[in-house]
Parts: sequence; structure tokens; C-alpha cells
Amino acid sequence: MTESLTIRRPDDWHLHLRDGLMLAGVLPETARHFARAIVMPNLVPPVVTGAEAAAYRGRIMAALPEGMHFQPLMTLYLTEETDPDDVAAAHRSGLVHAVKLYPAGATTNSASGVRDIDKLHPVLEKMAEIGLPLCIHGEVTTPEVDIFDREAVFIDTVLHPLRDRIPGLKVTLEHITTAEGVDYVAGAAGDIAGTITTHHLMIDRNHLLVGGLKPHYYCLPVAKRRSHRDALRRAATSGNPRFFLGTDSAPHNDDAKESACGCAGCFTATNTLACLAHVFEEEGALDKLEGFTSLHGPARYGLSPNDDTITLVRHDSPVSTPDKIATGAGPVTVFDPGHPLFWRVT
Ligand code: DOR
Ligand code: ZN
Repeated sequence: MTESLTIRRPDDWHLHLRDGLMLAGVLPETARHFARAIVMPNLVPPVVTGAEAAAYRGRIMAALPEGMHFQPLMTLYLTEETDPDDVAAAHRSGLVHAVKLYPAGATTNSASGVRDIDKLHPVLEKMAEIGLPLCIHGEVTTPEVDIFDREAVFIDTVLHPLRDRIPGLKVTLEHITTAEGVDYVAGAAGDIAGTITTHHLMIDRNHLLVGGLKPHYYCLPVAKRRSHRDALRRAATSGNPRFFLGTDSAPHNDDAKESACGCAGCFTATNTLACLAHVFEEEGALDKLEGFTSLHGPARYGLSPNDDTITLVRHDSPVSTPDKIATGAGPVTVFDPGHPLFWRVT
């Protein structure tokens, strides 16, 4: 029996598209299924000003193949020098939908990120006033803090005090990976949401480390133990509108991943929806998939859900997904869920 599921067309609330040849290679993988995406600004150099975001948006639209439709929702990379008026103008014009906070050194291309959060108060106050969301990479970078604890420590020592000081700030805690992250987002007072990636719903740290180091499962925040993955699954399938999809699909070419100092990032754009249908089916929650992929995010960002739909079909035998996609910047390995997938977007 063939089962099918039709849902509103999804959006991706956290995506890395890169630039140049890599952008051209990966953009169709997202645009094939997703209508919109919050586009991360961690280029080299980063997208800091409204003018830079407008130029980057132009390059994305120029890279979109004929006949494909896609709306990039631009973000700005927050630095200690960010000009609150420039941020407000970029938001007012409809260009910029969020501002991204990377603690300096937390992840790929975060060297220009924030060292002293107190310096951000003027711009964060302005964002609270105009209702512009702050997307946060929530990990401390203190060398003494174990990498598996960095998200939980960030919540206690940075996020909670920050939200206490600026209670009107709309915060999205991105790519949460821990039960502590889930509990904070679900329970905290005020305007908070959390995105969850596809890969963090599927893998735990054993996938990364047992039986040989698997560089294509290395991402940041790093996958945690199984009980955390299961907490993420419960959150994603709960129907709570504070949780929604941000894939954090983050392409690096194979040379950069398969290296003595490999880059962080899982590239999931190609098979994200097949993976998510698998997870939601395993959890007996296919009825909650549409909220997670297509409804909670737009509501959070003050946008309407997409008008059109996609249909996922469940096949009786496994469907094939390419192992890699070819880009002008080299081959990029597609996320391997580690087991067969049966769902496919028609
Ligand atoms: O795994 C990751 N890759 N995490 C991030 O925060 C950044 C991203 C990237 O840009 O490659
Ligand atoms: Zn990211």
C-alpha cells in the first residue's frame, strides 16, 4: 500500500548557502523543496551591514536556476561594532528578518563574532523595540568548558541573564542539541523559540565516534548522547509551536571535511524531508510534521505559511539518495542517516 502525506510547502529557518560556486551547487537542493530560508551570514568576510545583505541576496537570486522559486530571508552577522540604525533600516525595508549572534570562535567563520556581549546592548535594545528576532548560536567558547557542556552552560551563564536584561527581545535559540535546551525553550517566560536540525534528530555522538571517526557527522553544536537526541525528538514532534525546523544544512567540500582538522557541518538539504518523515513516522507523529516544517516558523517570523503544498510518498522499498552532489567547489557529501529511507517528495 502506498501511503502519502501532503503538507504546506516547508521553509528552512536556518540554512548555509555560502557564495560563488558552492552557492550555485547547493541552492537548487534547497529550492527544490523549500519556499524560503533564513540564510546565515557567516561568509568570509561576514554579512554585517544592510548593504552587504542586499548584495548577497542579489547573488543568491542570480544563482537560482530558471524556473525555480525561492525567497531568501536575509540575516545580519552581529559584531561589537554593528550600527543599530543600519540594522533597523535593513529590517524596515523588508530585507532583513533576523540578526545572528555568533560567540567569537564558536564555529565556522565566527572569528568576527562577539566577545563582550555587554557591547551589544544598544543594538539589542533597538531590536527589541522593532521586534527583530535575534538568532543565537548558543555555545560558550571558554576553553575550560567541555565541548559537550557548552550549550547548557551558555543557557545558564549567557542566555538567561541576557533575556533578563532585555525581556522584550525575541530570541531564537538555534540548533538546540540538549535536553537542557529543550527544557529552556519550552519553559522560559517571554518570547523564545528553538530550531532543531534534521541531523540532530537522527544521530547521537556514537554515530560520530564509534567504529572510526566519521567527519561527515561532525557539526556544531556537536551531537550529544542518545538521551538528548530523544529529548529533541519529543520536542519536535510535540506540536509546541516554539519548536520548528532549521536544518543548519552546512556544505563543505569533501576535502575540507575529510581532513586532519575537518570543518563542522552536515549537508542535509538534499534529503532533509525524507529524513524528517522517517523520524516523525518512527515517533508515530506524522500528523505533527507540517507544524514543524511549515507552520510554526512562519508564525514566529510574522509571515504567512506558504500557499502551495508538497507531497511525500512512502515507498515499500528503500528510495535512493545521492551520496554526494557535485558543485563547482568540489563534491559535497549528503547526510547519511545510517539506514534506508522510504519517503520521497514527489
Ligand atoms: O556545523 C556547523 N556548521 N555549525 C555551525 O554553527 C556553522 C556551520 C557552518 O557554517 O559550516
Ligand atoms: Zn548554522
